[in-house]
Amino acid sequence: MKKELKILPCHIGIIMDGNGRWAQKRKLPRVFGHREGLKAVRKAVKAAKKFKIKYLTLYSFSTENWKRPEEEVNFLFKLMETRLRKEGDSLNRNNVKVEFTGRKEGLPEKLIEIMDYVRDITKNNTGLNLIFAINYGGRQEILDAIEKIVKKKKIKKVDEETFRKFLYLPDVPDVDLIIRTAGEKRISNFLIWQSVYSEFYFTDVLWPDFDEEDFYKALVSYQKRKRKFGGLIK
Ligand code: IPE
Ligand code: IPE
Ligand code: MG
Repeated sequence: MKKELKILPCHIGIIMDGNGRWAQKRKLPRVFGHREGLKAVRKAVKAAKKFKIKYLTLYSFSTENWKRPEEEVNFLFKLMETRLRKEGDSLNRNNVKVEFTGRKEGLPEKLIEIMDYVRDITKNNTGLNLIFAINYGGRQEILDAIEKIVKKKKIKKVDEETFRKFLYLPDVPDVDLIIRTAGEKRISNFLIWQSVYSEFYFTDVLWPDFDEEDFYKALVSYQKRKRKFGGLIK
C-alpha cells in the first residue's frame, strides 16, 4: 500500500537530465536518449495528473544548450515539433493547459507554429498546467523583465510584486519542488527568480528511466520538508 500524500507541491519543476548518458550506456548515439526521454515526459505528465499537481514545468532546452552540436540541437527541435503535433490534441482532450516559457527568438518557425497552436487550443482548459521551458534561461528571463520595465517610463518603483508581472508567465506561482535527475546537483539556469524557496529532490535515475514510482518518491520526500520561508515553524 502506498503512503497517503498529505502535502502536495502546487508547482513542480523538473530538470530532465541524463538522456545522453542513457544512450551512451547502451553504446547508442545521444539522440536515442532524447527520443527515449520523451516517453518519460509522457509518464511524468500522467503522474502529475494522477497526483493532482497544478503546475508542472519541464526544462526542455536551456539558453546554454545552443552550445551543443548543431545536429543535436536540430534533432531536439524536430522531436519537440513532431511530438507536439502528435500529442497536442490528446493533451487538449485530457483538459491539460499547455504553456511555454523561454525565448521564441532563434527557434525554428515550424516549432513556433505548433507551440502557438497547442497553447491556443488548450488555453481554456482547467486541469494540469503543463509548461515546457524551451530556449529558457533564468538570467535571460530576468534581463528581459528589466528591459520591459525600463521601457515603461511610468514605473517609478520596482518591488517584487511589480517585477513579477514582467516575467514570462507572471501568473504561474513559484516552484515548490525541483526534481533533477541523473545525479547532477545544480540549477543550470532554471527558474532562478521562482526557486528562491524551492525544495530540491535529486536522484541518480537517468531521465529516460524516470517513471511514476520515481515521481512518487519525490513526493514522499517532499512530505518531510519543513518549509520556513525565513520564519519559524508554528
Ligand atoms: C537532458 O539530457 C536533455 C537536454 C539537456 C536537452 P542531456 O542531453 O543533458 O544528457 P546528459 O547530461 O548528456 O547525460
Ligand atoms: C539542464 O541540463 C538543461 C535541461 C535539462 C534542458 P544540462 O545537461 O544542459 O545541464 P548542465 O550543462 O549539466 O549543467
Ligand atoms: Mg545533461
